[in-house]
Amino acid sequence: MFQGFAGVWTPLLPARQVRHVAVPVYLAGERIVLFRDREGQIGALIDRCPHRGAALSLGRLTSEGQIECPFHGWQFDRMGNNWHVPLNPDARRATLAAQALAVRVIGDLVWVFTATASPSPDEPMVPEGLRDPGLARTYVQRTWRCHWTRAMENMLDSPHLPFVHRRSIGKTLRQRMTSRSKMEVTWQDTPFGGRARALMDGQDGGAFLEFYKPNIMALHIPLPDRHLRIHALVIPEQKDRTRIIICQSRDFVRARLLNPIFSWMNRRIADEDKEVVESAGTAEIPPAALEKSVATDRATLQFRKYYYEVLRESGSVSAAGPNSVEL
Ligand code: FES
Ligand SMILES: [Fe+2]
Repeated sequence: MFQGFAGVWTPLLPARQVRHVAVPVYLAGERIVLFRDREGQIGALIDRCPHRGAALSLGRLTSEGQIECPFHGWQFDRMGNNWHVPLNPDARRATLAAQALAVRVIGDLVWVFTATASPSPDEPMVPEGLRDPGLARTYVQRTWRCHWTRAMENMLDSPHLPFVHRRSIGKTLRQRMTSRSKMEVTWQDTPFGGRARALMDGQDGGAFLEFYKPNIMALHIPLPDRHLRIHALVIPEQKDRTRIIICQSRDFVRARLLNPIFSWMNRRIADEDKEVVESAGTAEIPPAALEKSVATDRATLQFRKYYYEVLRESGSVSAAGPNSVEL
């Protein structure tokens, strides 16, 4: 389950997208159903009924705020507990639970932990820009036809800026770049992942990016005494489909009226990347030795190392239980 992406916290979608109806979402090959119970608390269950596998997301929410399977009406709360097995008053409901994921709502986003049977996970490590309640934030969502690892590498890759983004965020770099220019990429490990800086011809513009394992990039844009960051949240849906949430956080120009302008800029940057990333095909990133790399690939190679050494084999053990039941 969640193979290649198991045992990690990931943001999934803006909390305002989860109302009092069932919302199905793909995550790393699994379908999850999200819903709010009567108290407004969000639950995330594997979208497969433990009885005969029907999609819980096709069911309705009861007045108690539980989700009712559309097939035989079993009812589950947000923790997966079974509250009702119609026509079977003697059923041992404690043994008939749905699979629930740990959920947190942090800032404006719903986060889930990609495992159903492990001990309680540590809390997610969340960039300041995504959690500080005092910041204004705008969100843009895009879907790319690629494996999430290609999209994640793209977010950590500085030398593509003067090419892919020559008319937007890479414009200044492009103007300064000569045929003899040299970019130096530094990498520093941090408790949450790493920090990368890119200096061209020894000049440091002050911007840097941070990688939050497994799937977030936070770009710190230098503005005197101001907070301005762009986050890219790279969410694997299927092997060949990745949803990108771009979140910009700032502590100025908070008026919501201006959100469309910021959204337009972020959408444009994401769309500039899309075509190039998709052109590499939909396979996952190969081991480093199978592609040619150079010094400016330092940050992306760090990600590749993490993926191949830690994440890729995660979740390969089946979560299936014993093949017998007592009635
Ligand atoms: S398949 Fe869900 S109740 Fe039977
Ligand atoms: Fe880019």
